[in-house]
Amino acid sequence: MKRRYYSGRDPARAQSVADLRAMALRRLPGFVAEYMEGGAEEEGTLRANRAGFARPGLALRVLRDVREVSAEASLLGQAAGLPLVIAPTGYAGIFWPEGDVMLARAATAAGIPFCQSMISNTSLQDVRARTGCRHWMQVYPFGRDVFAAVFEAAEKAGSEAVVLTVDGPVIGNRDWDRRSYRRPFSLSPRSFAEMLTHPRWIASGPMRGLPGFPNIEAYAPAGTKGTAAVARWAVSGLDKSLDWDECARLRSQWRGRFIVKGIAHPDDALRAVEAGADAVVVSNHGGRQLDGAPASIDLLPPVVAAVAGRAEVYLDSGIRRGADIVRALALGATGVLAGRAMLYGLAAAGEAGVARAIAILREEMLRCMALLGVTKLADLGPHIFHPERA
Ligand SMILES: Cc1cc2nc3c(=O)[nH]c(=O)nc-3n(C[C@H](O)[C@H](O)[C@H](O)COP(=O)(O)O)c2cc1C
Repeated sequence: MKRRYYSGRDPARAQSVADLRAMALRRLPGFVAEYMEGGAEEEGTLRANRAGFARPGLALRVLRDVREVSAEASLLGQAAGLPLVIAPTGYAGIFWPEGDVMLARAATAAGIPFCQSMISNTSLQDVRARTGCRHWMQVYPFGRDVFAAVFEAAEKAGSEAVVLTVDGPVIGNRDWDRRSYRRPFSLSPRSFAEMLTHPRWIASGPMRGLPGFPNIEAYAPAGTKGTAAVARWAVSGLDKSLDWDECARLRSQWRGRFIVKGIAHPDDALRAVEAGADAVVVSNHGGRQLDGAPASIDLLPPVVAAVAGRAEVYLDSGIRRGADIVRALALGATGVLAGRAMLYGLAAAGEAGVARAIAILREEMLRCMALLGVTKLADLGPHIFHPERA
């Protein structure tokens, strides 16, 4: 039977992340929905990420006392309500006004960290001051001066960690995105028409002005004026020379926790640990970078083995259900990051939608653990997979 999803307006009525997605897709113009949803090229990696969570089978275990099941976690050595971090997503202001603040507020309420994208629409100082969130600052390579300035701002603002994203020396091939614009910030006629037929999105978003890039615009070359020009520079200005020596140098420049995001090979995980990373994030950027890369969850066990407890290992790409988080932890992850699952909530209903997305993942985790006969995260391990299908 074809599944029907709730696509109304009340986030409390969303029963799954898929319901929040349906709500979001009703509200957003096509080109914004594509930005949220899309993967690189044939989107094979995007699909693989989800398929990877369907195997191996889980072992239902019975007649164990599961009255008290807890998702309480420890992330970078600090207690968290569940083993989840909101992943960095650039330009979240296009989904909901002040999207970054909405994401950070929902994270704070749930007791989990918010990882802010460097190409977000609210300054990191504002996000911290207005939400008091556990703040992880994601950075892209725009050159040494920019790193130094952002590290200083992050330290002053009280960020707990810097997250260096390493899987984007060039931006993945997203042809749908180029099709939506004549050039950055100049919509194609089709996108413009889509916008006009989505009044709810127009009323809450662009009528208040296109959000800018406060975390990077000060560093754009002199004469770069306006949001569109900054966007063009952000795309072309990435420093492709970033290497492991520079990664180690950056680590030494930052006093807080240092995380390397975008690890897809055990040898690279080892190098990140040698460079001084406190944690690595196994990720294929939600299928948006190298199409053909394996499912993120399949890359987790070899990375966990290579790191051998010297750093925390996180996973992202494809998290849509609480059971996905349970699987990642059973394979050795300390926690997961979720990108689109949070954006679906944001685009559906702002802060309340993000809060609902987190609550759904939490409830699903607890139910899954009860059916596995496991009551706390520390007891998750390979034994939750069924021997017949291992
Ligand atoms: C709309 C969108 C924007 C993103 N922007 C960034 C970014 O600015 N920096 C970054 O490190 N990763 C970015 N990512 C990747 C996410 O941090 C994360 O790796 C990915 O979304 C995980 O996959 P999932 O969406 O299936 O959870 C973005 C992802 C999406 C969907």
